[in-house]
Amino acid sequence: MCGIVGYIGTRPASDILMEGLQKLEYRGYDSAGVATVLEGELHCVRAKGKLQNLAEKIEGQENPARLGIGHTRWATHGKPEEHNAHPHTDTYRRIAVVQNGIIENYRELRATLKEKGHEFRSDTDTEVIPHLIAEHLKHLTAAGAIEADPFFEAVRLSVKQLEGAFALAVINADYPDDLIVVRQQAPLIIGLGQGEFFCASDTPAIVPHTRAVLPLENGELARLTPTGVEVYTFEGDRLKKRPFSLNWNPIMVEKQGFKHFMLKEIYEQPGVVRTGLETYLDTAWTSDRATKPVHLGLPDNVLDDLEQVQIVACGTSWHASLVGQYLIEQLAGIPTRVQYASEFRYSPSPLTRHTLTIGVTQSGETADTLAALEMEQARRAEAADSALMPRMLGITNRPESSLSRLVPHIIDTHAGIEIGVAATKTFTAQVMAFYFLALDLAYRRQTLTPEAIEQLIEDLRLLPAQIESVLESQERYIEELAHNFSDTQDFIYLGRGINFPIALEGALKLKEISYIHAEGYPAGEMKHGPIALLDAKVPVVAIAMPGNVYEKVLSNAQEAKARDAQLIGVVPMNDEEAEFTFDSLLPVPVVDELLSPVLTVIPLQLLAYHIAARRGLDVDQPRNLAKSVTVE
Ligand code: AGP
Repeated sequence: MCGIVGYIGTRPASDILMEGLQKLEYRGYDSAGVATVLEGELHCVRAKGKLQNLAEKIEGQENPARLGIGHTRWATHGKPEEHNAHPHTDTYRRIAVVQNGIIENYRELRATLKEKGHEFRSDTDTEVIPHLIAEHLKHLTAAGAIEADPFFEAVRLSVKQLEGAFALAVINADYPDDLIVVRQQAPLIIGLGQGEFFCASDTPAIVPHTRAVLPLENGELARLTPTGVEVYTFEGDRLKKRPFSLNWNPIMVEKQGFKHFMLKEIYEQPGVVRTGLETYLDTAWTSDRATKPVHLGLPDNVLDDLEQVQIVACGTSWHASLVGQYLIEQLAGIPTRVQYASEFRYSPSPLTRHTLTIGVTQSGETADTLAALEMEQARRAEAADSALMPRMLGITNRPESSLSRLVPHIIDTHAGIEIGVAATKTFTAQVMAFYFLALDLAYRRQTLTPEAIEQLIEDLRLLPAQIESVLESQERYIEELAHNFSDTQDFIYLGRGINFPIALEGALKLKEISYIHAEGYPAGEMKHGPIALLDAKVPVVAIAMPGNVYEKVLSNAQEAKARDAQLIGVVPMNDEEAEFTFDSLLPVPVVDELLSPVLTVIPLQLLAYHIAARRGLDVDQPRNLAKSVTVE
């Protein structure tokens, strides 16, 4: 995905654009650019690489322009080079466009426009847009356009020709009072200030200036002028839309003294868990009370009489869903299947009348997950069975995102915005959402006794303090331990049962930010192949927590030790057997095995963080990644 920002108002646009891009850099960071309109001319500056390179290029340039757009890119079409960086312009460099998404029919459009004499300078799909707008504008003005704003009309006609998912911001040197923005399957919000207006692909770029926002819906475009905002459909019908006030604090998007956002977000986890407990659980619930223990705000026709649950997600959200699968099956006894969203789209499991489909996505904008849910929505509508439609649910950290249009119900994970590209606190918040859901289902189906529910609630309430104790006791040691792995090339992570997904998540965190090859396996599977990889150069991280697989994991760890692997154990505190088995210990408080993932993931997040930081890597913006992947 990419980051878009735009400004029209009374202040120098350039500063606001650069500040906005800095807040959006987590969305893409392989090149960046800004374009402004000043005294009838378009000024466009672009740079390959991090935003800092662009900042250095424009430093010292006096630019009082009051209108401009900016972009930070995550490459899809065309390598991350300056000539592919946005904004893109038309042949005469009068119109500038920034885009987030993919224009699927760009090849046909490009060929037609080239035949008409348009000169292309990049390898991107986006570049067709300014040329197409210029072409329409030429015809409209030649025909003596009767429209009040031919530029706006040219943009409207152009977007109707585009196929794909995209959000745009467009300016024109000949129309210094127009900033035009478009949304089609990619997020775009407008910020309303006093005599100034903003647009961005995400709220962090807008909150320092205003909390009054107007999100565009798919198939809408808006004209921002110094005096107001007009929203239209792609058909040209004017819409009346109400802004709403964001419940956000600009401080939420600052590092607050931490070296990286990722570390700050790791440390926010006790608070995130507390918020989840306070929001959804009756923490004073006791077995003799007749009221419900969990309050998810979901109607009975979503959760009652379920035969199966199917979950779709990607990446870390998929790992949280695997934990969710264990919880729903173990606590509520409902068969549950977790599928990669990108696979589900093309091979969905059979639908029964009593299937609940859950989409899990922290950003609510991941293209694969949205497409899977869209397909699910369509197949449910086709079945024309009114009982099917309500049984779709989203678990997300961004309830205002595109996800909300695809599912009738949402569980908000309330983790606060996550800026680090590697998900940490949103993972924990998703896992918490699954505890609440599984408990609600267990209560409804009476698969747990009231006493067992009371005990689980009691144990859940202890988690925030237990995470705090892991952070306090472990961080310094893990930082030291990380020194040992500066040159390591491969890691193996092992876990079983409910901690198998944590092994996957620990390995993913390490890969993402340290670029060390890491694989997660169910510990019992190691002997069926991966064991061939082991020698003294391959450290093995095993999660061994008390429960029905504890002894098994210890045996699997021994098997690795016998092949000279260096063993690191995420283990219960003060456990002699673990001390005997592992070379390095990452102890966590002893909890019920079902609750242990919330604790065992913490040292693994810290381990990945410190290894990457030790290697001097850009922890918050790892290479090739973007915070949410809004393309297929
Ligand atoms: C997590 O560290 C990754 N950056 C990535 O796997 C992510 O979880 C995945 O792209 C899904 O994102 P979503 O939760 O926003 O849908």
